[in-house]
Amino acid sequence: MAKEKGIKEIEDLPGIGPTTAEKLKGMGYDNLDKIAVLDPHSLAELSGMSVDKAKEAVEAARNATTLEFSTASQVYEERKAIGRIATGSKELDDLLGGGVEAKAITEAYGKFASGKTQLGFQLTVNVQLPVGKGGMDGKVLFIDTESTFRPERIESIAKAAGMNPEDALSNIFVVHAQNTEQQILAVEKADKTIRENNIKLIVVDSLMALFRSEFPGRGALGERQQKLNAHIHKLQGLSDKHNLAVYVTNQVMDNPAILFGDPTTPVGGNIMAHAATTRLYLRKSKEDKRIVRLVDSPSMPEGEAVMKITPNGIKD
Ligand code: GTP
Ligand code: MG
Repeated sequence: MAKEKGIKEIEDLPGIGPTTAEKLKGMGYDNLDKIAVLDPHSLAELSGMSVDKAKEAVEAARNATTLEFSTASQVYEERKAIGRIATGSKELDDLLGGGVEAKAITEAYGKFASGKTQLGFQLTVNVQLPVGKGGMDGKVLFIDTESTFRPERIESIAKAAGMNPEDALSNIFVVHAQNTEQQILAVEKADKTIRENNIKLIVVDSLMALFRSEFPGRGALGERQQKLNAHIHKLQGLSDKHNLAVYVTNQVMDNPAILFGDPTTPVGGNIMAHAATTRLYLRKSKEDKRIVRLVDSPSMPEGEAVMKITPNGIKD
Protein backbone atom coordinates (compact mmCIF):
# COMPACT_ATOMS: atom_id res chain seq x y z
CA MET A 1 0.00 0.00 0.00
CA ALA A 2 1.45 3.27 -1.13
CA LYS A 3 -0.10 5.01 1.84
CA GLU A 4 2.20 3.21 4.29
CA LYS A 5 5.31 4.32 2.45
CA GLY A 6 7.56 6.44 4.62
CA ILE A 7 5.91 5.57 7.93
CA LYS A 8 8.77 5.45 10.41
CA GLU A 9 7.49 7.19 13.53
CA ILE A 10 4.10 7.26 15.15
CA GLU A 11 3.52 10.85 13.99
CA ASP A 12 3.64 9.53 10.41
CA LEU A 13 0.49 7.45 11.03
CA PRO A 14 -2.79 8.67 9.51
CA GLY A 15 -4.88 10.62 11.99
CA ILE A 16 -2.01 11.11 14.42
CA GLY A 17 -0.64 14.63 14.52
CA PRO A 18 2.27 15.94 16.54
CA THR A 19 0.15 16.65 19.63
CA THR A 20 -1.40 13.20 19.73
CA ALA A 21 2.00 11.65 19.05
CA GLU A 22 3.51 13.50 22.01
CA LYS A 23 0.61 12.44 24.21
CA LEU A 24 1.07 8.77 23.24
CA LYS A 25 4.83 8.92 23.72
CA GLY A 26 4.28 10.42 27.14
CA MET A 27 2.29 7.31 28.02
CA GLY A 28 5.07 5.04 26.82
CA TYR A 29 3.74 4.32 23.31
CA ASP A 30 6.89 5.58 21.69
CA ASN A 31 7.31 3.37 18.64
CA LEU A 32 5.30 1.83 15.83
CA ASP A 33 5.45 -1.68 17.25
CA LYS A 34 3.66 -0.56 20.39
CA ILE A 35 0.85 0.94 18.34
CA ALA A 36 0.73 -2.08 16.03
CA VAL A 37 -0.19 -4.42 18.89
CA LEU A 38 -2.86 -2.11 20.31
CA ASP A 39 -6.53 -2.81 20.03
CA PRO A 40 -8.09 0.12 18.07
CA HIS A 41 -10.56 0.77 20.90
CA SER A 42 -7.67 1.19 23.35
CA LEU A 43 -5.88 3.51 20.99
CA ALA A 44 -9.07 5.55 20.59
CA GLU A 45 -9.38 5.82 24.36
CA LEU A 46 -5.72 6.70 24.89
CA SER A 47 -5.54 9.28 22.16
CA GLY A 48 -9.03 10.71 22.09
CA MET A 49 -9.40 9.94 18.37
CA SER A 50 -12.42 8.14 16.91
CA VAL A 51 -12.46 4.35 16.75
CA ASP A 52 -12.56 4.42 12.95
CA LYS A 53 -9.52 6.67 12.79
CA ALA A 54 -7.80 4.48 15.40
CA LYS A 55 -8.48 1.38 13.27
CA GLU A 56 -6.80 3.07 10.35
CA ALA A 57 -3.79 4.08 12.44
CA VAL A 58 -3.31 0.59 13.91
CA GLU A 59 -3.64 -0.97 10.49
CA ALA A 60 -1.03 1.39 9.07
CA ALA A 61 1.30 0.71 12.02
CA ARG A 62 0.96 -3.04 11.43
CA ASN A 63 1.81 -2.67 7.77
CA ALA A 64 4.75 -0.44 8.52
CA THR A 65 6.46 -2.58 11.14
CA THR A 66 9.20 -4.67 9.71
CA LEU A 67 8.95 -7.90 11.61
CA GLU A 68 10.50 -10.66 9.58
CA PHE A 69 10.43 -14.38 10.13
CA SER A 70 13.69 -16.31 9.77
CA THR A 71 14.25 -20.03 9.77
CA ALA A 72 16.55 -21.43 12.43
CA SER A 73 19.09 -22.27 9.76
CA GLN A 74 19.17 -18.64 8.65
CA VAL A 75 19.63 -17.62 12.28
CA TYR A 76 22.46 -20.14 12.57
CA GLU A 77 24.21 -18.74 9.48
CA GLU A 78 23.87 -15.23 10.88
CA ARG A 79 25.25 -16.33 14.22
CA LYS A 80 28.30 -17.84 12.55
CA ALA A 81 28.93 -14.46 10.93
CA ILE A 82 29.05 -12.68 14.30
CA GLY A 83 32.53 -11.46 15.05
CA ARG A 84 34.70 -12.86 17.80
CA ILE A 85 37.78 -11.57 19.56
CA ALA A 86 40.58 -13.89 20.65
CA THR A 87 41.55 -13.57 24.31
CA GLY A 88 45.20 -14.53 23.89
CA SER A 89 44.57 -17.87 25.58
CA LYS A 90 43.52 -20.74 23.34
CA GLU A 91 42.06 -22.55 26.33
CA LEU A 92 39.88 -19.56 27.20
CA ASP A 93 38.85 -19.08 23.55
CA ASP A 94 37.71 -22.70 23.45
CA LEU A 95 35.78 -22.28 26.68
CA LEU A 96 33.99 -19.33 25.07
CA GLY A 97 33.38 -21.15 21.81
CA GLY A 98 35.91 -19.09 19.85
CA GLY A 99 36.59 -15.93 21.85
CA VAL A 100 34.56 -13.00 23.10
CA GLU A 101 31.58 -12.52 20.82
CA ALA A 102 30.09 -9.43 19.25
CA LYS A 103 26.41 -8.50 19.66
CA ALA A 104 26.69 -9.49 23.30
CA ILE A 105 27.87 -8.30 26.68
CA THR A 106 30.68 -10.27 28.26
CA GLU A 107 31.20 -9.63 31.95
CA ALA A 108 34.36 -10.51 33.89
CA TYR A 109 34.06 -10.42 37.65
CA GLY A 110 36.52 -11.29 40.36
CA LYS A 111 38.58 -9.95 43.24
CA PHE A 112 41.36 -7.36 42.82
CA ALA A 113 44.30 -8.44 40.68
CA SER A 114 42.30 -11.34 39.24
CA GLY A 115 43.03 -10.11 35.71
CA LYS A 116 39.82 -8.32 34.68
CA THR A 117 41.61 -5.20 33.45
CA GLN A 118 44.43 -7.17 31.83
CA LEU A 119 41.94 -9.24 29.84
CA GLY A 120 40.30 -5.97 28.77
CA PHE A 121 43.66 -4.65 27.54
CA GLN A 122 44.29 -7.84 25.58
CA LEU A 123 40.89 -7.61 23.88
CA THR A 124 41.56 -3.93 23.16
CA VAL A 125 44.64 -4.98 21.21
CA ASN A 126 43.26 -8.16 19.65
CA VAL A 127 40.08 -6.61 18.24
CA GLN A 128 42.35 -4.60 15.96
CA LEU A 129 43.68 -7.79 14.33
CA PRO A 130 42.20 -8.80 10.98
CA VAL A 131 39.03 -10.90 10.82
CA GLY A 132 40.07 -14.55 10.83
CA LYS A 133 43.25 -13.73 12.76
CA GLY A 134 41.55 -13.34 16.11
CA GLY A 135 40.27 -9.83 15.58
CA MET A 136 37.49 -7.80 14.00
CA ASP A 137 39.62 -5.26 12.21
CA GLY A 138 38.07 -2.60 14.42
CA LYS A 139 38.76 0.11 16.94
CA VAL A 140 37.95 0.47 20.60
CA LEU A 141 35.98 2.71 22.93
CA PHE A 142 37.51 2.30 26.40
CA ILE A 143 35.51 3.75 29.29
CA ASP A 144 37.83 3.88 32.28
CA THR A 145 36.11 4.55 35.59
CA GLU A 146 38.96 3.56 37.89
CA SER A 147 41.86 5.39 36.24
CA THR A 148 43.61 2.11 35.58
CA PHE A 149 43.98 2.46 31.80
CA ARG A 150 47.71 2.09 31.01
CA PRO A 151 48.90 3.01 27.49
CA GLU A 152 52.35 1.59 28.23
CA ARG A 153 50.79 -1.78 28.96
CA ILE A 154 48.83 -1.61 25.68
CA GLU A 155 52.10 -0.79 23.97
CA SER A 156 53.81 -3.98 25.20
CA ILE A 157 50.81 -6.16 24.40
CA ALA A 158 50.50 -4.65 20.91
CA LYS A 159 54.21 -5.15 20.18
CA ALA A 160 53.95 -8.77 21.28
CA ALA A 161 50.99 -9.19 18.92
CA GLY A 162 53.14 -7.94 16.03
CA MET A 163 51.45 -4.56 15.72
CA ASN A 164 52.83 -1.09 15.44
CA PRO A 165 52.23 0.16 19.01
CA GLU A 166 51.53 3.75 17.92
CA ASP A 167 48.85 2.56 15.51
CA ALA A 168 47.37 0.36 18.20
CA LEU A 169 47.18 3.28 20.63
CA SER A 170 45.67 5.64 18.09
CA ASN A 171 42.86 3.14 17.53
CA ILE A 172 41.69 3.40 21.12
CA PHE A 173 39.28 6.14 22.22
CA VAL A 174 39.59 6.52 25.98
CA VAL A 175 37.06 8.22 28.23
CA HIS A 176 37.87 8.79 31.89
CA ALA A 177 34.52 8.84 33.63
CA GLN A 178 34.57 10.39 37.08
CA ASN A 179 30.95 9.94 38.00
CA THR A 180 28.01 7.89 36.78
CA GLU A 181 26.72 10.83 34.74
CA GLN A 182 29.93 10.88 32.71
CA GLN A 183 29.88 7.10 32.40
CA ILE A 184 26.29 7.16 31.14
CA LEU A 185 26.98 10.08 28.79
CA ALA A 186 30.00 8.33 27.31
CA VAL A 187 27.65 5.61 26.12
CA GLU A 188 24.78 7.92 25.19
CA LYS A 189 27.07 9.95 22.94
CA ALA A 190 29.00 7.03 21.50
CA ASP A 191 26.91 6.35 18.43
CA LYS A 192 28.65 8.82 16.10
CA THR A 193 32.17 7.89 17.22
CA ILE A 194 31.32 4.22 16.71
CA ARG A 195 30.01 4.77 13.21
CA GLU A 196 32.80 7.06 12.07
CA ASN A 197 35.61 4.93 13.46
CA ASN A 198 34.45 1.36 12.96
CA ILE A 199 34.50 0.65 16.67
CA LYS A 200 34.11 -3.06 17.31
CA LEU A 201 34.72 -3.22 21.05
CA ILE A 202 33.45 -1.19 23.99
CA VAL A 203 35.21 -1.80 27.30
CA VAL A 204 33.71 -0.50 30.54
CA ASP A 205 36.24 -0.98 33.35
CA SER A 206 34.61 -1.04 35.81
CA LEU A 207 30.91 -1.03 35.14
CA MET A 208 29.78 -0.96 38.76
CA ALA A 209 32.45 0.92 40.73
CA LEU A 210 30.96 4.41 40.36
CA PHE A 211 27.39 3.18 40.75
CA ARG A 212 28.39 1.48 43.96
CA SER A 213 30.13 4.47 45.46
CA GLU A 214 27.47 6.97 44.43
CA PHE A 215 24.49 4.94 45.59
CA PRO A 216 25.52 3.37 48.87
CA GLY A 217 23.10 1.56 51.13
CA ARG A 218 19.79 -0.10 50.55
CA GLY A 219 17.87 3.17 50.37
CA ALA A 220 19.53 4.14 47.10
CA LEU A 221 19.33 0.70 45.55
CA GLY A 222 16.15 1.27 43.56
CA GLU A 223 17.44 4.41 41.92
CA ARG A 224 20.83 2.83 41.27
CA GLN A 225 19.33 -0.23 39.61
CA GLN A 226 17.06 1.89 37.46
CA LYS A 227 19.97 3.98 36.17
CA LEU A 228 22.13 0.92 35.73
CA ASN A 229 19.40 -0.84 33.80
CA ALA A 230 19.09 2.01 31.30
CA HIS A 231 22.88 2.20 30.96
CA ILE A 232 23.28 -1.51 30.26
CA HIS A 233 20.31 -1.48 27.92
CA LYS A 234 22.01 1.24 25.90
CA LEU A 235 25.23 -0.79 25.73
CA GLN A 236 23.29 -3.82 24.54
CA GLY A 237 21.58 -1.67 21.91
CA LEU A 238 24.90 -0.40 20.56
CA SER A 239 26.34 -3.89 20.40
CA ASP A 240 23.36 -5.16 18.40
CA LYS A 241 23.18 -2.17 16.12
CA HIS A 242 26.88 -2.00 15.28
CA ASN A 243 27.78 -5.68 15.56
CA LEU A 244 30.34 -4.93 18.25
CA ALA A 245 31.51 -6.65 21.42
CA VAL A 246 30.97 -5.19 24.88
CA TYR A 247 33.35 -6.24 27.64
CA VAL A 248 32.60 -5.04 31.17
CA THR A 249 34.40 -5.73 34.41
CA ASN A 250 32.60 -6.11 37.68
CA GLN A 251 33.42 -6.18 41.35
CA VAL A 252 32.49 -8.85 43.81
CA MET A 253 31.18 -9.20 47.35
CA ASP A 254 30.85 -12.10 49.73
CA ASN A 255 27.29 -13.30 49.76
CA PRO A 256 26.50 -14.16 53.40
CA ALA A 257 23.70 -16.47 52.25
CA ILE A 258 26.23 -18.88 50.76
CA LEU A 259 27.41 -20.94 53.72
CA PHE A 260 29.29 -23.66 51.88
CA GLY A 261 31.59 -23.22 48.94
CA ASP A 262 32.79 -19.97 47.39
CA PRO A 263 30.69 -17.00 48.58
CA THR A 264 32.13 -14.66 45.93
CA THR A 265 29.23 -13.03 44.05
CA PRO A 266 29.25 -10.32 41.40
CA VAL A 267 27.59 -7.05 42.39
CA GLY A 268 24.81 -5.44 40.37
CA GLY A 269 22.06 -7.87 41.30
CA ASN A 270 19.51 -9.29 38.91
CA ILE A 271 19.85 -6.50 36.39
CA MET A 272 23.51 -7.29 35.84
CA ALA A 273 22.86 -11.02 35.89
CA HIS A 274 20.23 -10.77 33.16
CA ALA A 275 22.11 -8.27 31.04
CA ALA A 276 25.39 -10.16 30.73
CA THR A 277 25.20 -12.64 27.89
CA THR A 278 28.33 -14.37 29.13
CA ARG A 279 29.70 -14.18 32.67
CA LEU A 280 33.27 -15.03 33.54
CA TYR A 281 34.52 -15.47 37.09
CA LEU A 282 38.26 -14.80 37.33
CA ARG A 283 40.33 -15.90 40.28
CA LYS A 284 43.95 -15.90 41.22
CA SER A 285 45.93 -19.09 41.15
CA LYS A 286 49.66 -19.62 41.57
CA GLU A 287 51.88 -16.71 40.44
CA ASP A 288 50.79 -15.45 37.05
CA LYS A 289 48.07 -18.09 36.56
CA ARG A 290 44.42 -17.18 36.63
CA ILE A 291 41.45 -19.53 36.59
CA VAL A 292 38.55 -18.39 34.46
CA ARG A 293 35.20 -19.99 35.10
CA LEU A 294 32.43 -19.71 32.54
CA VAL A 295 29.43 -19.17 34.79
CA ASP A 296 26.72 -18.29 32.36
CA SER A 297 26.57 -18.67 28.60
CA PRO A 298 23.68 -19.13 26.19
CA SER A 299 25.47 -21.73 24.11
CA MET A 300 28.51 -23.14 25.92
CA PRO A 301 28.63 -25.51 28.89
CA GLU A 302 30.01 -24.31 32.22
CA GLY A 303 33.68 -24.98 32.63
CA GLU A 304 37.06 -23.59 33.48
CA ALA A 305 40.19 -22.49 31.67
CA VAL A 306 43.59 -21.50 32.97
CA MET A 307 45.28 -18.42 31.53
CA LYS A 308 48.50 -16.61 32.35
CA ILE A 309 49.17 -12.90 32.71
CA THR A 310 52.61 -12.41 31.15
CA PRO A 311 54.63 -9.31 30.22
CA ASN A 312 53.35 -9.90 26.66
CA GLY A 313 49.73 -10.09 27.73
CA ILE A 314 47.33 -12.99 28.21
CA LYS A 315 48.69 -16.38 27.21
CA ASP A 316 47.92 -20.06 27.85
P1 GTP B 1 41.00 -4.67 40.20
O1 GTP B 1 40.78 -3.69 39.11
O2 GTP B 1 41.92 -4.16 41.26
O3 GTP B 1 39.74 -5.21 40.79
O4 GTP B 1 41.77 -5.94 39.62
P2 GTP B 1 41.80 -6.55 38.14
O5 GTP B 1 41.08 -7.83 38.19
O6 GTP B 1 41.43 -5.56 37.13
O7 GTP B 1 43.34 -6.87 38.02
P3 GTP B 1 44.30 -6.65 36.79
O8 GTP B 1 43.70 -7.13 35.55
O9 GTP B 1 44.82 -5.28 36.83
O10 GTP B 1 45.45 -7.67 37.13
C1 GTP B 1 46.50 -7.29 37.94
C2 GTP B 1 47.55 -8.35 37.82
O11 GTP B 1 48.04 -8.36 36.49
C3 GTP B 1 48.73 -8.03 38.71
O12 GTP B 1 48.62 -8.77 39.91
C4 GTP B 1 49.88 -8.50 37.91
O13 GTP B 1 50.15 -9.82 38.27
C5 GTP B 1 49.40 -8.52 36.49
N1 GTP B 1 49.99 -7.43 35.73
C6 GTP B 1 49.58 -6.16 35.67
N2 GTP B 1 50.39 -5.43 34.87
C7 GTP B 1 51.33 -6.27 34.46
C8 GTP B 1 52.47 -6.14 33.63
O14 GTP B 1 52.76 -5.06 33.11
N3 GTP B 1 53.19 -7.25 33.40
C9 GTP B 1 52.88 -8.45 33.94
N4 GTP B 1 53.62 -9.53 33.70
N5 GTP B 1 51.83 -8.62 34.74
C10 GTP B 1 51.08 -7.55 34.99
MG1 MG C 1 41.01 -3.54 37.18
